[in-house]
Amino acid sequence: MIAAAVRQIAIAVDGPASSGKGTVARRVANRLGFQLVDTGAMYRTVALAALRADVDLNDAAAVEQIARGIRFRFAFNGGDLTVEADGEDVTEVIRDQPVGAAASIVATHAGVRTALLGLQRALGAGGGVVMDGRDIGTVVLPSAELKVYLDASLDARAERRWRQLPDGDFEQVRAELAERDRRDTSRAIAPLACADEAVRIDTTGIGVESVVEFIVTLAKARQAR
Ligand code: DC
Repeated sequence: MIAAAVRQIAIAVDGPASSGKGTVARRVANRLGFQLVDTGAMYRTVALAALRADVDLNDAAAVEQIARGIRFRFAFNGGDLTVEADGEDVTEVIRDQPVGAAASIVATHAGVRTALLGLQRALGAGGGVVMDGRDIGTVVLPSAELKVYLDASLDARAERRWRQLPDGDFEQVRAELAERDRRDTSRAIAPLACADEAVRIDTTGIGVESVVEFIVTLAKARQAR
């Protein structure tokens, strides 16, 4: 018997901070045996390098130069993604809250986005990939076979984030998230947006596994087409 060819599709997962897209993208990639590409990790790595070099985050030219100089390496072994920058494992340190806030600032610079775009497209080119970010369905992989936009109310997202912080203040967490939303959706270049053809999923009150199951079902249907 000859098995039907399964297409190596690209899956774009976009959505605001703490919408659950990172966890969902990782599990979907795992289930399908696809490569995971976390584009937020790239912006976070640029932000980390800028912070360490004591560069003004609003200095577009200086931050672009930093972005262009970083050699990234991603390893996705089953459940976990490891991010390396110039040989250093930055997987953990880029998750720090100040790095996330700085990432949202460096991501507003056109030169920084262009510097990372080529790498992101190259990683997505062959298909068999789940890529998550803010502009994957709209800018990075506009011809992705499946586009998903994950959303949840500000309160639900703030609560998720707050539960991860041992001694965080809920109101402060919520205010920081609102500010990140404002910056990510209002920037001039490649703002966070839901692509017209994206499947929009509101994850407020829905467990991760149900969302993963739904996306895997959609992906298998697209692969079989
Ligand atoms: O998904 P994240 O929280 O790791 O992303 C960190 C920041 O990077 C986010 O505030 C906006 C930016 N980002 C972006 O502008 N475009 C992407 N494709 C991914 C992330």
